[in-house]
Amino acid sequence: MPLFSPVTKAEIIICRDVEALSRRAAEQFISLARAAMAAHGNFTVALSGGSTPKALYSLLATEEFSAQLDWRRIHLFFGDERCVAPDHAESNYRMVHESLLAKIAIPGANVHRLRGEDPPPLAAQAYEAELRRHFGAAALPRFDLALLGLGEDGHTASLFPGSLALNEVAGWVAAAYVEKLSAHRLTLTFPLFNNVAQVSFLVAGASKAGVLAAILQDSTADYPAARIKPNAGGLTWFVDHAAAEQLASPALN
Ligand code: 6PG
Repeated sequence: MPLFSPVTKAEIIICRDVEALSRRAAEQFISLARAAMAAHGNFTVALSGGSTPKALYSLLATEEFSAQLDWRRIHLFFGDERCVAPDHAESNYRMVHESLLAKIAIPGANVHRLRGEDPPPLAAQAYEAELRRHFGAAALPRFDLALLGLGEDGHTASLFPGSLALNEVAGWVAAAYVEKLSAHRLTLTFPLFNNVAQVSFLVAGASKAGVLAAILQDSTADYPAARIKPNAGGLTWFVDHAAAEQLASPALN
């Protein structure tokens, strides 16, 4: 039985552990893919980096789930990327390739990589052009699904506290220096994420319990992830018991 946040009205699905969370998210992925393909012939997804989303990708790559998907009609984009080469240990593309892309029959043209190896401003410009090519002259791209993780500091994608990317409202892709990482990051911006048809967060582990409770229960919480509120779309938090530890269930209906 899902719960709902009194603050964000988001659906909260609490699962036993990260495996159960990944399974619920994979079931949602299949369901959304079927609906999107029936509605407009393809399914466009913005992927997240991080270890929790990685567990979902590994599950989607299994025969049980992969065989239910027509990868020829699925387009995979990246919600953010580190400014490194695609074969670098830190690369989100490398993580997605190892956990999913190398195990499924998806056409290369359907995988839209954020070029972390390029100068960040050029990579951001090039990705905006890629988005325009895929979504057409749409005022704002509308992904069918965006998968997101949550950092202990309340970041999501590469929208970090204090980052200039938080204030980007005209651009679709931001290249911003992240002080705490001493590195640049590439990220889709709030206007894009908040135009997505379905945003699903994947959050596991006790270290996320405090920030998750703040985002879902404290209307004054000012974390970047709290600003993800799809204008006309769904918002679901798939969380494990450890991350949900501080959720005051009576506060959730
Ligand atoms: C990244 C992700 C980032 C990640 C969170 C949570 O590039 O690292 O986009 O936003 O999702 O840091 O990561 P974990 O699930 O590994 O805690």
